[in-house]
Amino acid sequence: MKKILAMMSFMLLVSLTACGNNSDDIKSDISKEADSAVTTNEQMSADNQSEDATEVMQSEVQENEGGPAKVLVAYYSASGNTERIANLVAEASEADTFVITPVEEYTDADLVWRDESSRVNQEHEDENRHVELISTEAGDFDSYEVIFIGYPIWWGDASWVVDDFVKNNDFTGKTVIPFATSSSSPLGESGTKLAAMAGTGEWMEGKRFSSGADESEVKEWVSSLDFFQ
Ligand SMILES: Cc1cc2nc3c(=O)[nH]c(=O)nc-3n(C[C@H](O)[C@H](O)[C@H](O)COP(=O)(O)O)c2cc1C
Repeated sequence: MKKILAMMSFMLLVSLTACGNNSDDIKSDISKEADSAVTTNEQMSADNQSEDATEVMQSEVQENEGGPAKVLVAYYSASGNTERIANLVAEASEADTFVITPVEEYTDADLVWRDESSRVNQEHEDENRHVELISTEAGDFDSYEVIFIGYPIWWGDASWVVDDFVKNNDFTGKTVIPFATSSSSPLGESGTKLAAMAGTGEWMEGKRFSSGADESEVKEWVSSLDFFQ
């Protein structure tokens, strides 16, 4: 009987020890799984982060690619009318502006076109006229895709003050859109003559505004252009 009891005790001990070992194994397995889960989570998290980063990069690239064109409004204005329109064009197209400025600015007396001895009249008569500008370099000019060029109409044509700006810049690959203000004359051939003078760029038809044109007319015109739709 004692032998039987001793044998049963031994078997019970062996079985308990075995159980203990199993539980250690399970703990170790859970621990391993947890470790592996952490590793997997870390990996997923890292993967997600890299996916997120990829998404961010892609959306930035898309933003850049799909973003609005970089626009410049370059203009000359002797008495402020073209300047007002130019600022409205710039506002509507989110453009930078560049003021075409003669070294020797025109006084009121210079602009009296009915006076034969006035500066504009004399220049008008002179086929070799040349108005020197303070600068024809408009910032990072190469970066602009669309260039508006604004000017007053003088004797049915573009004021010659803009000539050097047009001649001295390379408009290759850019869309160029002339606009003008006048008392009554149309844009006429002013845009096509400037295009010929430039020799580069994709020149559009352009638009003439009356000296006191409404803001809404200017903004409607800008929003009607292909670039801003
Ligand atoms: C020298 C000179 C010539 C002009 N010639 C014309 C012309 O041929 N036709 C016209 O409709 N307006 C003519 N104008 C009027 C201007 O085109 C008009 O006032 C314009 O809006 C002025 O723009 P600004 O204020 O930006 O200089 C002339 C003005 C000047 C000073």
